Amino acid sequence: MNKTLRRAVIAGNWKMNKTPAEAEALINEIKPLVKNADCDVVCCVPYIDLQTALEATKDSNIKIGAENCYWAESGAFTGEISAKMLKTIGVEYVIIGHSERRTFFGDTDETVAKRTRGALDAGLKVILCVGEYLEQRDLGITIEVVRMQTKIALNGVSADELKNIIIAYEPVWAIGTGRVATPDQAQEVNHAIREVLAELYGKDVADTVTVQYGGSMNAGNAAELLAQEDIDGGLIGGASLKAPDFAAIVEAASK
Ligand code: PGA
Repeated sequence: MNKTLRRAVIAGNWKMNKTPAEAEALINEIKPLVKNADCDVVCCVPYIDLQTALEATKDSNIKIGAENCYWAESGAFTGEISAKMLKTIGVEYVIIGHSERRTFFGDTDETVAKRTRGALDAGLKVILCVGEYLEQRDLGITIEVVRMQTKIALNGVSADELKNIIIAYEPVWAIGTGRVATPDQAQEVNHAIREVLAELYGKDVADTVTVQYGGSMNAGNAAELLAQEDIDGGLIGGASLKAPDFAAIVEAASK
């Protein structure tokens, strides 16, 4: 079992939810519930909540992430936040290429690759999201799509830099819909991602990369998904906003 070579990572993706005061309350509720976790626990929060979340998690095992970043260090990019800015305030992780960024905000495989490069150069850990639309699954091109997204995003990323990358397979049709991928469906794609990594970096390196599943993962279905050989954690949306549910998923990943 190569699964033992990898550390499970459970990351919450809060999306556009929670004011700083609400963020502090939620973190304080999550903290005691996950303090004995035997996996990495990350909360990715809106930009305005980062300072509060960092402060609230100082004495805990919870790491803080942002939900996007820009690649240039600074400059005339109104409304953007750079990877370097995030690093400067103590942020450790950043989600890149989430399907909501790709669908609603014009992110492409190319901009995802640029953001990934910027984040790695700034010293952030990247949660790189890939996943197919339902039409693509119905066309039978899921593996091709996910392979292509992965290869473009990792273009120019060295084996050493890959240590700072987590890949999250998130089928778009499963995000926020309550329609979770079956463990077999998720395992098939996560395994295909690991095969691409093996082609690019060799099997020994590929076996060490954390590959998450995301999309309607919850307290009820997490254990079965996380038991799959190539599923090393989860990127959790809705359920990450409820402390007991998030903690139950962390618990499932700690087994
Ligand atoms: P969901 O979102 O858990 O609410 O489906 C997952 C995600 O978008 O990362």
